[in-house]
Amino acid sequence: MALKYTKKVLEHFMHPKNMGEMPNADAQATDGSPACGDMVTMAIKVDPKTLKITDVKFKSYGCASNIATASVITEMAKGKTLEEAKKLGWRSAADELGGLPAVKMHCSLLAAKTLAEAIRKYEEEHGLAKPREVGGLTQESVLRELEGVLNPEIGLSIVRLKMVKKIGIEDGVVNIDISLGNTDPEFSKVIGEEIEEHVKDLKGVKQVKVSFA
Ligand code: FES
Repeated sequence: MALKYTKKVLEHFMHPKNMGEMPNADAQATDGSPACGDMVTMAIKVDPKTLKITDVKFKSYGCASNIATASVITEMAKGKTLEEAKKLGWRSAADELGGLPAVKMHCSLLAAKTLAEAIRKYEEEHGLAKPREVGGLTQESVLRELEGVLNPEIGLSIVRLKMVKKIGIEDGVVNIDISLGNTDPEFSKVIGEEIEEHVKDLKGVKQVKVSFA
């Protein structure tokens, strides 16, 4: 069945804004979606006095929703301060497009996450934020990763939906209990794979075990 896209999604997909290279970018980030393997790059130029984003460009190796969300979020970010732009989450980009099919919400998450990462890099390189500690396998670091896993039926984070019941860590083995409320094995398979993709690259992880109840 064909997915239903709004007119605005199709407009941004057919005529994306701010797409292309940015030579001499002040900061740049590339990220991929474990849900589909697509990738996006965001580059920003920042006025060091006002800390406003003066220019932003993206390159997408993703689907129509990803291109449309990246296009709209770059439009929304331009002229904003870093602080303001950081608050532009995937939900506001999806809303600006008039909504996205639930199974495509992760595409907007990818665009928003990559922009946030470019901003974070700028802040770290300019002493505006403390460099993040690499590694450190804790319940918090696992939970942070799980925030990027969406329930494909409704396009909301499994953390926000309170589906994560327990995170246990022992000798690099991460045990995650998920409350599903859906008995379709395909559904648990998709969520399980996405959880594993998100968590397995955290430093110190030897194995990820997901249980569903
Ligand atoms: Fe991959 Fe949309 S399906 S970013």
